[in-house]
Amino acid sequence: MVIFGVTGDLTHRLVIPALYNLAEAGLLPETFCVVGITRKEIASDELRASLMDGLKRFATRPVRQDVADKLLYCVTAISADPSDPPSFDRLRERLEKLEAARHTGGNRLFYLATPPDAFAPISSELGRAGLLREDQGAWRRLVVEKPFGTDLASAKALNAHLLGLVPEHELYRIDHYLGKETVQNILVMRFANGMFEPIWNRDHIDHVQITVAETLGVGHRGSFYDATGALRDMVPNHLFQLLSLVAMEPPSQFNAHAVRTAKSAVLSAIQIPSEHDALANSVRGQYSAGQIGDTTIEDYRKARNVRSDSTTETYAALKLNIDNWRWAGVPFYLRTGKALGAKRTEVAIKFKQAPFAMFRCTPVQQLSQNYLVIGIEPAESISLQFNSKIPGPQIAIDGVEMTFRYKDYFKVAPSTGYETLIHDCMIGDNILFQRADAIEAGWAAVQPFLDAWRKAGADGLQIYPAGSNGPAEADALLARDGRSWREPLVR
Ligand code: BG6
Repeated sequence: MVIFGVTGDLTHRLVIPALYNLAEAGLLPETFCVVGITRKEIASDELRASLMDGLKRFATRPVRQDVADKLLYCVTAISADPSDPPSFDRLRERLEKLEAARHTGGNRLFYLATPPDAFAPISSELGRAGLLREDQGAWRRLVVEKPFGTDLASAKALNAHLLGLVPEHELYRIDHYLGKETVQNILVMRFANGMFEPIWNRDHIDHVQITVAETLGVGHRGSFYDATGALRDMVPNHLFQLLSLVAMEPPSQFNAHAVRTAKSAVLSAIQIPSEHDALANSVRGQYSAGQIGDTTIEDYRKARNVRSDSTTETYAALKLNIDNWRWAGVPFYLRTGKALGAKRTEVAIKFKQAPFAMFRCTPVQQLSQNYLVIGIEPAESISLQFNSKIPGPQIAIDGVEMTFRYKDYFKVAPSTGYETLIHDCMIGDNILFQRADAIEAGWAAVQPFLDAWRKAGADGLQIYPAGSNGPAEADALLARDGRSWREPLVR
């Protein structure tokens, strides 16, 4: 496993702790070894010490010294820089020697845990130096982190670039949402049970809400975030993963080709609005100073490396339509934002309302709504909300909830969420990785929003206080259709 960006945060925080968990579970090959690529020459011992420190800080379970030593013993630091092409030729020679010494059989996983502007130069050099060429039965795989492009044109260009170097099946585009058990479980919930599929369509479902609300502000990521915004950062990737799993047609088989084809098909069925309609069907906001629990959050525009007149959105809400036989007429409302009053990630499926006629001549005032809620954070759960009779001589009805919580049924060791993803890269299973067509369909669906918002500038940007529910206009987006968000983030 050859890691570019080995000295960075992602490697220390997630990749090495995930490798540790795989090692402890006996899921790493015996002849595994890690090569860390650094720009400047450093000693392998120094790199190992830094990774060990990181592991101790970020491990999700107590670190067993013997397992950690065995994992880190195999780490070798090699310097290579894409602006110095001969360094990649030297890298090839050193890898060949290492492979012979460690008997790894020549399989190579190149992991680009780097800022996105390094994906193209590094992969070009890997290609030029012949490092991506499969030979003598040994495989080559290339893993790229998010974000994949910054709009439709750049995502297409990056796909074209990478696919010029390696075939699609050797490319692993990571979206960490697919490493979440609860997200993977959406497929199982929908397709391993007989009761959902017959009602999973526009005859029975009124609308779908997808919420990814965070309490954290922009923190130290000002320069990245201010150039990115909530829409780019979250929607075409994480929220669309949730949307595609909820809305896809049943794949014919549980394999990468069938699942990825079905996901891509539903993303391509999202109606692409005109810029005018995009403005009418979206809300964007930016947080101002506020309080979240004991934490005081300063105005977004005062955060480090954020422009003082920034119009970057830290909150986005969209109404999307999926133009196919299953979903026509069923709106999908998506919202995501930073510095909100609560951390909540969920998909809420709202079923059509039961007719009220039967209760008209009773004291019952109204029926509560039927939701199936797939909880991803903070509770990993699935719950069904329905009406029930309140015990007593008179007819009275209230909404109740039946909830399955993962922690009540399954004892799983805490993990980083990267274990399955890295393991899948090693065994060559692309099922949890994004394919080029799905990436491009996702960007195509958000592009009109990006364009319309850029042109509108400060016009229409709603300021919301940190710690709140986000802009009131996001409530109005649903209210205008006679609907409301399932539950406010804060009351
Ligand atoms: C990342 C975004 O991809 O996902 C962050 O860049 C965001 O801005 C994070 O905070 C959210 O991930 P999670 O797993 O905490 O919902």
